[in-house]
Amino acid sequence: MPGIISTAPGKTILFGEHSVVYGKPAIAVPVNEKKAKVKIIPDIIAPKDSIQFIASQIDLNQNYHQLEDHHPLKVAVDEVKKFLNILNYPSCKIFLETTIPISSGLGSSAAISVALIKGLLNFVGFQSTPDIISKLAFQVEIEFHGNPSGIDNTVIAFNKTILFQKDRPIEIITPGATFSILIADSGIKGNTKTAVAEVREKWTENPAQYNNYFEEMGNIAIDAKAMIESGNFQTLGKLMNANQEYLRKIGVSHTSIENLIDVAIQNGAYGAKLCGGGLGGNIVVLINENSANRMTNLLLSSGAIEVIYLRLGAGEN
Ligand code: PMV
Repeated sequence: MPGIISTAPGKTILFGEHSVVYGKPAIAVPVNEKKAKVKIIPDIIAPKDSIQFIASQIDLNQNYHQLEDHHPLKVAVDEVKKFLNILNYPSCKIFLETTIPISSGLGSSAAISVALIKGLLNFVGFQSTPDIISKLAFQVEIEFHGNPSGIDNTVIAFNKTILFQKDRPIEIITPGATFSILIADSGIKGNTKTAVAEVREKWTENPAQYNNYFEEMGNIAIDAKAMIESGNFQTLGKLMNANQEYLRKIGVSHTSIENLIDVAIQNGAYGAKLCGGGLGGNIVVLINENSANRMTNLLLSSGAIEVIYLRLGAGEN
């Protein structure tokens, strides 16, 4: 049994985070500039069913059997075993690493799950599909986030720009132009689980108002899909700003996010908004291609700790 390497990209949400949890459509894009990587090598001298996880970035060196039942890595292995209908998985060592910053809205947990599940299936010779990988990774996402919409595991497993809506087939979006997007990290760690729980609490207290917000955010995502397909930068930027207004209203923005958005808009961006769970994390900024360097430097000198340049379209995503 040869060793294998499996990777998965990060992701960003262009439209519809949070409202997607309530069944509304959202748009997500893979970020191949950042990746999770899993290497699996056979361990022929280890006892049966021994899976040693090694993730030096987080000082983890533990066997499958030592992990608590709900540990996401254990859940990933259990989901694969259940799917393949096997009791024991071949003994192996699994090395995990990632360049995706954690807790920043770039899908770090889902990328690890997707890379791991793809690797585990591949290692035993199973020809997997994005759909199978996504479904299994969703079970792991539940351990990380409690009540995930499924958008992260889907966009990462398919590695395509998608319109995602719970319980509906995904729609792959083909951009009608090349869009230049900057993803700027505020340096403040977001917390998706907390953000989703807080929004749920407010929704429970005021369902009519929040349902209305979510409906509007879903409508923005649908309009945005058409603007991506027709290559309309100006209107897409305005839709990002409109989406951010609702994210503010539902209370998931943060001063560090607002500062970076102000800098972007005041310096000519078409639009900007937070991406992912919020309460920190990253923003996405739609820019004119020619201003990429200037805007990157401005964001870095205004507190962003990293800026990624993403070109959406032109067959790249
Ligand atoms: O923070 P992230 O990258 O995990 O994105 C979360 C997106 C939410 O809509 C807030 C939650 C979800 O499950 O869709």
